[in-house]
Amino acid sequence: MAIKMVFGIQKGGCSKTTTSGIFAHQLLARGHSVLAVDMDSQGNLTELLTQRPANEFSDQSILEAFRDENAKPYIYHVTEQLHVLPANNLLATLPRLLYTMYGLTSNRVYTSLRELLEHIASDYDYIIIDTPPTLSEHTVSALVAADWVLVMFESSQWCYSAVPNFMDSVEVARKLNPTLQIAGIVRTLNDVRRTDNKEFNDLIAEDYPDLVFDTVIRRRAAAGRLAIYGLGDANPEMESALEQYAPLFEEVLNRVRQG
Ligand SMILES: Nc1ncnc2c1ncn2[C@@H]1O[C@H](COP(=O)(O)OP(=O)(O)O)[C@@H](O)[C@H]1O
Ligand SMILES: [Mg+2]
Repeated sequence: MAIKMVFGIQKGGCSKTTTSGIFAHQLLARGHSVLAVDMDSQGNLTELLTQRPANEFSDQSILEAFRDENAKPYIYHVTEQLHVLPANNLLATLPRLLYTMYGLTSNRVYTSLRELLEHIASDYDYIIIDTPPTLSEHTVSALVAADWVLVMFESSQWCYSAVPNFMDSVEVARKLNPTLQIAGIVRTLNDVRRTDNKEFNDLIAEDYPDLVFDTVIRRRAAAGRLAIYGLGDANPEMESALEQYAPLFEEVLNRVRQG
């Protein structure tokens, strides 16, 4: 059965998509099979991993998987080991679809992703789920479907304000998914020249001493350019972009395997 990990925080620009893509890549490099599930209508993870515009997946996306209650026909094979359940703009209409299908009060609005993934979880070692910058049905569904959540913390005031609310959403999701665990908080996008970044790193570590990972990820131009060149062999800067993620990857895997 796949280990399901979700990357979240209800704020944009916190490296959720970049980090989930890099994790998928690191898992592949270890010989694991990975399904990447894009729950963000921006389709950024879809584009990062498939190197195709998200619009090309209209009618062939995760939205149709929800509609048909069957993910398999909509899984795109990037390689034998890397599969993607893609998203595009239309995924913004997911709440309307789910409320129409299941009614306004049914828990199935939040458990339908979990059910979709249960049918295919035995095909993969890991399932990575990327989420949008909102505490919407998309994000709660992802939390209800996952085993582990990684909280992405860009070291700033507004992200600092977002974390307690995100933790509340984890609690809400636990009512439907009692075994959901927080793998940890990833401090990322640090600019070494900014003392306020360091202060927020320390603040979040004081608030959640058992949850922050030791590795702090820096803002590096090569990592930013992954969005352009992707994670494949065609990217000459891959090594320098990914270097700093290796110790974080080890920390995460240690926690996930022990838990
Ligand atoms: N370590 C990093 N160094 C530099 N740029 C980064 C890094 N991680 C992400 N980025 C860039 O920061 C922006 C936000 O990252 P993204 O992964 O899209 O965040 P989110 O999914 O949380 O909105 C993107 O332009 C991305 O390319
Ligand atoms: Mg994103």
